[in-house]
Amino acid sequence: MTFGIDDLPVRDELRGKSPYGAPQLDVPVRLNTNENPYPLPEALVERITERVREAARDLNRYPDRDAVELRTGLAEYLTKTTGHPLDVSNVWAANGSNEVIQQLLQTFGGPGRTAIGFEPSYSMHGLIARGTGTGWISGPRHDDFTIGVPAAERAIAEHRPDVVFVTTPNNPTGNAVPAETVLALHDAAQAAKPSMVVVDEAYIEFSHGASLLPLLDGRPNLVISRTMSKAFGAAGLRLGYLAAHPAVVDAVQLVRLPYHLSAVTQATALAALEHTDTLLKYVEQLKAERDRLVAELRAVGYEVTESDANFVQFGRFADSHATWRKILDRGVLVRDNGVPGWLRVTAGTPQENDAFLDAVREVKKEQST
Ligand SMILES: Cc1ncc(COP(=O)(O)O)c(C=O)c1O
Repeated sequence: MTFGIDDLPVRDELRGKSPYGAPQLDVPVRLNTNENPYPLPEALVERITERVREAARDLNRYPDRDAVELRTGLAEYLTKTTGHPLDVSNVWAANGSNEVIQQLLQTFGGPGRTAIGFEPSYSMHGLIARGTGTGWISGPRHDDFTIGVPAAERAIAEHRPDVVFVTTPNNPTGNAVPAETVLALHDAAQAAKPSMVVVDEAYIEFSHGASLLPLLDGRPNLVISRTMSKAFGAAGLRLGYLAAHPAVVDAVQLVRLPYHLSAVTQATALAALEHTDTLLKYVEQLKAERDRLVAELRAVGYEVTESDANFVQFGRFADSHATWRKILDRGVLVRDNGVPGWLRVTAGTPQENDAFLDAVREVKKEQST
């Protein structure tokens, strides 16, 4: 027998667990990780190169620990796109929104504390909770994947969690959560504890509706988390950020590692912010493709969950994993998130989406004969 993880003195809660990760298979069409399919425009690649060259000259020094220029730029982007005025004191940035969430759980969760999410939802919320020693509570959703306010309020009142996660648009189901629901959960969480409410808006730029950022007004326990991985098409950059009351920004600095955001990351993200207009043009194209996927999947006879994201959940399958395999056999990789009866496809380029639709039409024909 070879020496493995369980032979090491790892923490009990990590024993027998597997790391998070979608299969990275080498197939012609990969629509499984909710990435933006469009490479960065050449003018932006040039600008990144310039900014990184400048930053390289100072790499003997630690970067700006507080990433002030970048946070100012992110605050301007949020103000411009939501109409809600924010400044540098309201914004914090880290290596992907996963790190933002980790810092929030290190600050507001931890041993002896709990966090709740309404599942199925983004599984990293629960995994990061485990990694930070925070107890995880799986809150309920209706069969149509909406959050039922009375049931959610009951779960909050019963468990009195320290952190409440609401993902809107939700991953993997795609549906958005109405502002009234978020407000009801926020109020229930304040009455029960009070606790922090983290609204994960990783996919908000693809939504038919507006950001919930204006809800920050007068709610210091509310946090909106965002990322450049999806709409900005910069998953490889690893840049996530949050907007909240300045006290929240001060609080996460108690747990952040010094100089966590490299000078190269800050320079690259600043270059991307200079090109938001071009980047967001692709978003419009992807929204149109997402709507096409919804319509075509319904026309083929599949059930589809309403989508406000850059992906679509479709079903229902007696055996979703077997269907996933049949689609893969046709050269298209989608995601089996373990939601019984359902699969998820990311909106790709029109050609990739055509290949996917051809594959599912064939699978449907085969399954109904
Ligand atoms: C809902 C949600 N939040 C956060 C993330 C993490 O994004 P990143 O760490 O790339 O910013 C993802 C990635 O898929 C996601 O689906």
